[in-house]
Amino acid sequence: MTIENKRSSKAEMEDLIRARYSLIWVTSPEENRVEEALRKLCVEREMRLEVWSITEGFKTIANGQGTRDVKDPMKAIDHVIRAEGRALFVLRDFHPFLKEPAVVRRLRDAATELRKTKKSLLVLSPVTKIPPELEKSVAAVLDWELPTRMEIEEAARKVLPALPAATQQVIESDPGFMERVVESALGLTLVEAENVFSKSAVRTHTFDLETILEEKKQIIRKSGLLEYYEHREEFSDVGGMEVLKDWLVKRRSAFSSRARDFGLPLPKGILLIGVPGTGKSLTAKAVGALWQMPLLRLDVGKIFGGLVGSSEENIRNVIKTAEAIAPAILWIDELEKGFSGTGSSGQTDGGTTSRVFASFITWLQEKTTPVFVIATANNVQQLPPELLRKGRFDEIFFCDLPDREDRRSIIDIHIRKKKRDPGQFDLEKLIEATVDYSGAELEQAVVASLYDAFDTGMDLSTEGLLNTLKDIVPLAITMREQIEAMREWARTRARPAAARGRTPPKKAGWMARHGAPTANLGDKGAETSDDGERKLEL
Ligand SMILES: Nc1ncnc2c1ncn2[C@@H]1O[C@H](COP(=O)(O)OP(=O)(O)OP(=O)(O)O)[C@@H](O)[C@H]1O
Ligand SMILES: [Mg+2]
Repeated sequence: MTIENKRSSKAEMEDLIRARYSLIWVTSPEENRVEEALRKLCVEREMRLEVWSITEGFKTIANGQGTRDVKDPMKAIDHVIRAEGRALFVLRDFHPFLKEPAVVRRLRDAATELRKTKKSLLVLSPVTKIPPELEKSVAAVLDWELPTRMEIEEAARKVLPALPAATQQVIESDPGFMERVVESALGLTLVEAENVFSKSAVRTHTFDLETILEEKKQIIRKSGLLEYYEHREEFSDVGGMEVLKDWLVKRRSAFSSRARDFGLPLPKGILLIGVPGTGKSLTAKAVGALWQMPLLRLDVGKIFGGLVGSSEENIRNVIKTAEAIAPAILWIDELEKGFSGTGSSGQTDGGTTSRVFASFITWLQEKTTPVFVIATANNVQQLPPELLRKGRFDEIFFCDLPDREDRRSIIDIHIRKKKRDPGQFDLEKLIEATVDYSGAELEQAVVASLYDAFDTGMDLSTEGLLNTLKDIVPLAITMREQIEAMREWARTRARPAAARGRTPPKKAGWMARHGAPTANLGDKGAETSDDGERKLEL
């Protein structure tokens, strides 16, 4: 399942050089790897490559040799301006010197001068910290991609000779094995991948996928933004939501090259909105298992939290990791927590939120890598309207409270999960008694009832469940107005996640049976909607 239709960073760099971009900023923590790619590029293009550092001055590493003793940053720039011929100059770790106004000025001069020549100047830094005065002069910022499959395989092959001869033979005789090893380390830097492979070699005397994945999970978690999720939830654990599930099942092979050849566009992503506890997060997790793709959970709050890096850097790193692991699913849970109120916060945080948000939207719309985004949200009112415009997501699904049939399958799932036979329960009675309950509340009822049963020395039963249900006031009752507003909003803007058109018998809702839990819930009389129970105007 390899699709690499994204242009490599090396190819992009080649375009920039050919287009005579004079000052380029490259962001990457992998100095050696980037320099090696640049060296190859310069050899191919017959350009000289000179690399500068504060400790060594300039050193020519392609198409020529020699050093130039210019450790002073100002003199280094002067050297670049004066140097002859076709050449690429790399300044390592230069960003600390950009605090000096004189250095910034000189760099701007260089950018102008170089435009008339066949020389390009490149700042290589682990962070993108461009002073505002320089922003206009930097013709391009290139976030260097993480290692490709081929590079990761090279890293694995370096460690291979350290394994026992018999193990090496086994690995070499199974081409699928190496592919899986490479897959398990995607998303890491080259050094991290080498370390992970070495650790596995030392510990298990082979390339053990579990060990590698476990290490990768740790490394990704350390970044503080993403969590690499394991497939624990099966797709069959999701009850109801047939329309949404069909949509997802239909796209299970949409990331294959066969689908590309057939002319199918790459699915971009979906937004799941709706009532709390209806299985939005559950579905996101289950898609990983259905599509057999790794799932990365993004903590949106942390992007802006200020605890790790700058917000801009953070979103770029998230995208970079997701693209390296691709095909992958990027799950953005509780989207509204991060990107809410981007308009107004522009005044309070210097527009950072808006900028980060804009770059996220652009990526969402233009990405060519197979990263599928599943965003989930409760509070649609807080979401910026730009996000909901056509073309951002493939589809916006609204997850409402489950109807009869959906409750049947959700109750069935949770009884089965407790290793009981749903055939032993009066599902009809349970369905009748759970109008207005969400999936999460149905699960909660099963768990609470199981405790009661254990306590009284009985087994889980229909009667027990019915008793427990009496004590659970569905959120739908206390959140009646918000839910109604959400439905109103969704009517024209989103697609229902559950099958419509079923006409179960009209049935009174929770309050008609139990009485109102709070004093004033409005003065409207009981009113049933067209499917008898979805409408909460009671
Ligand atoms: N449709 C469903 N089928 C089976 N179980 C469900 C369903 N909906 C909810 N549940 C149960 O409730 C739990 C919580 O649901 P989940 O976290 O997915 O809800 P959510 O829609 O993301 O809620 P929130 O909006 O509060 O984030 C699930 O882990 C699952 O056990
Ligand atoms: Mg959720």
